[in-house]
Amino acid sequence: MTDFETAFGRPSDGVWSAPGRVNLIGEHTDYNDGFVLPLALDRRTWVAAARTTEPGWTTVRSDREDQPVRFAASTVAPGQVAGWACYVAGVVWAFREAGLPVADTDLFIHGDVPVGAGLSSSASLECAVAVALAGLAEIPVEKTPFARIARRAENEFVGAPTGGMDQMAAMHGAPDRLVFLDTRTEAVELIPFDLATHDLALLVLDTRAPHQLVDGQYGERRHDCAEAAALLDVPSLRDATLDAVGALDDRRLRARARHVVTENARVLEVVDRLRGGRDPREIGPLLTASHESMRDDFAITVPHVDVAQETALAAGAHGARMTGGGFGGCVIALVEVADVDAVTRAVEAAYADRGWEPPVAFTAVASAGAGR
Ligand code: GLA
Repeated sequence: MTDFETAFGRPSDGVWSAPGRVNLIGEHTDYNDGFVLPLALDRRTWVAAARTTEPGWTTVRSDREDQPVRFAASTVAPGQVAGWACYVAGVVWAFREAGLPVADTDLFIHGDVPVGAGLSSSASLECAVAVALAGLAEIPVEKTPFARIARRAENEFVGAPTGGMDQMAAMHGAPDRLVFLDTRTEAVELIPFDLATHDLALLVLDTRAPHQLVDGQYGERRHDCAEAAALLDVPSLRDATLDAVGALDDRRLRARARHVVTENARVLEVVDRLRGGRDPREIGPLLTASHESMRDDFAITVPHVDVAQETALAAGAHGARMTGGGFGGCVIALVEVADVDAVTRAVEAAYADRGWEPPVAFTAVASAGAGR
């Protein structure tokens, strides 16, 4: 018997899922109209769903929660659902706002994307619910519009002021591909990223340092970027030049803007190298430079993150950087397959020396986006 059958006493109409993501490079560029280069993870959120037998009620259950959450699909609005189920209710609301059909449903949620690790478990849940609603309504999935709907749920229903990278990665991800996204035009290009054929691995080190997007720091960075763009008289930092940024008087704003401008350039450089089919080892220094920029200019790293990044490099990684919103979360390292264990052990030892809980390590493989 499936979890859905145990919970609801009948089989589901189908199971849909969407992946978490790691961002290879392009951090805090998405809300500046810039470039990002994430990949869909081989860790997902699954939604088993069926039309309800109790009209007027959508019921959401999860294997992580004891109590179901209930709301009405036809009337649910921001502020009415709190906690974990707001990601689900938010998508139902955003579906309705987009003029798409929403019926009440029974949903059972299960997932293996670590929560609070900066791997976009929330976007994976949102996108899994979006494709489930589409499947039940028998309407076609359109990747970019669905990513917009999922992001609207996150921004306006959940209240997290994120950019659009995570939902686009969850919708557009593909096996052995990076999702190169121009967030201004929403153009997507899939870039080959088959590390195994080069005897390489992307090691993810979940530092388990606490990480929260709804708290103020993320919003403060967004605000700094908007202020810098206004001072530079450009629509967004995407349009700023390094020379113009260097002339900003305010030291903090100068550093924030410099991160965004140099990070956009690094994304384009990485794409250029990978597109040309060159050895992925060549992108290592760009990953490391991205970390230094996040640490020194954007000021979003924390000691757990910096120690993991420095230790991975010292233990032989070709490049390493924090991934995601910052203030904790995960570090990624580009390593020889043969060195995965040695790098992991080195970081564990560095953590043990400081009396910190060990990080959780796994290798990431670029995987499929949302679907049935
Ligand atoms: C979080 C947000 C994204 C993006 C990153 C930073 O993951 O959800 O939109 O801004 O932070 O690159």
